[in-house]
Amino acid sequence: MKKVKLKVPATVANLVCGFDILGMAVYDPYDEMEFRLLETPEIIIKHIDSFGLPEEASKNVAGVVLLKIQEYFNLKIGFEVIIRKHIKPGSGLGSSAASAAGAVFGANILLGNKLSKEEMVYFAMFGEELASGVRHADNIAPCIYGGITLVKSSNPIDIIPLNSPDLFVTAVHPQVEVKTSDARQILKKNISLKSAVEQWGNIAGLVAGIQKNDYSLIGRSLNDVIIEPIRSILIPKFDKIKSKSLQLGALGGGISGSGPSIFMLSEQKETAEKTAQMMKSVYDEIEIENLIYVSKINPNGIQIVEEA
Ligand code: HSE
Repeated sequence: MKKVKLKVPATVANLVCGFDILGMAVYDPYDEMEFRLLETPEIIIKHIDSFGLPEEASKNVAGVVLLKIQEYFNLKIGFEVIIRKHIKPGSGLGSSAASAAGAVFGANILLGNKLSKEEMVYFAMFGEELASGVRHADNIAPCIYGGITLVKSSNPIDIIPLNSPDLFVTAVHPQVEVKTSDARQILKKNISLKSAVEQWGNIAGLVAGIQKNDYSLIGRSLNDVIIEPIRSILIPKFDKIKSKSLQLGALGGGISGSGPSIFMLSEQKETAEKTAQMMKSVYDEIEIENLIYVSKINPNGIQIVEEA
């Protein structure tokens, strides 16, 4: 195999109550990544998008992942990667995870599928570390495995792929800047036992609801008493969007990753689309530019578009 082209999906981390442990892949937006094997040990990164990301391998999220792989296998060959990013950096929709997970996934195909999924997660976490200073796997895991994943532990890596319910996801990305590092910095370092017990109940309820396709239980469990009350202050009209989505019949939702995107889950496409229209009108009214996405939960994750 000399060349491979991938579609790498956006992901929603945390799923409200599962901070740093739960995540879900969607179909839209997605990045396009094209890989070519080089006979020299170079890593060449080219971005065909307007986000101004660094192309020097050691400063690029995909680049650092490929450098780690090169070092680990002591490779005398290299990779050229052409990236067309559609997932905006800093959106809370797993933009850096897509570059990192896409990089290891593409390289693995060109190297003859030497790595397991868990090993791919290991390498991709170096990309997340470059982007946000933290090696978290809650976006990377669903990108690589597809569907919804539980990061039971990231050191040692223990990923549990969960069921992928037949639900629609509406996501809005209001164009305000929220850096993951800032959104982590403001969190409390200690929590009360009472809050912890409530959160355990929600996480356990959510995982049980996902496994049983019990949509009412999923809706009842999409509550976060620890992170959302703090982070939502950074997102304009968060409470209004959440309450209006529930009125329209969405099961529930909240901040996507560290924000500023907000996501909602719905059983019906019609509800998901009505929720999208409402989200757009809320942000249009206060003149905040916004991008809206409606898609199903993506059970497959990264998709191979072409191999040669
Ligand atoms: N779990 C991480 C956070 C996701 O919420 O900070 C960041 O993309």
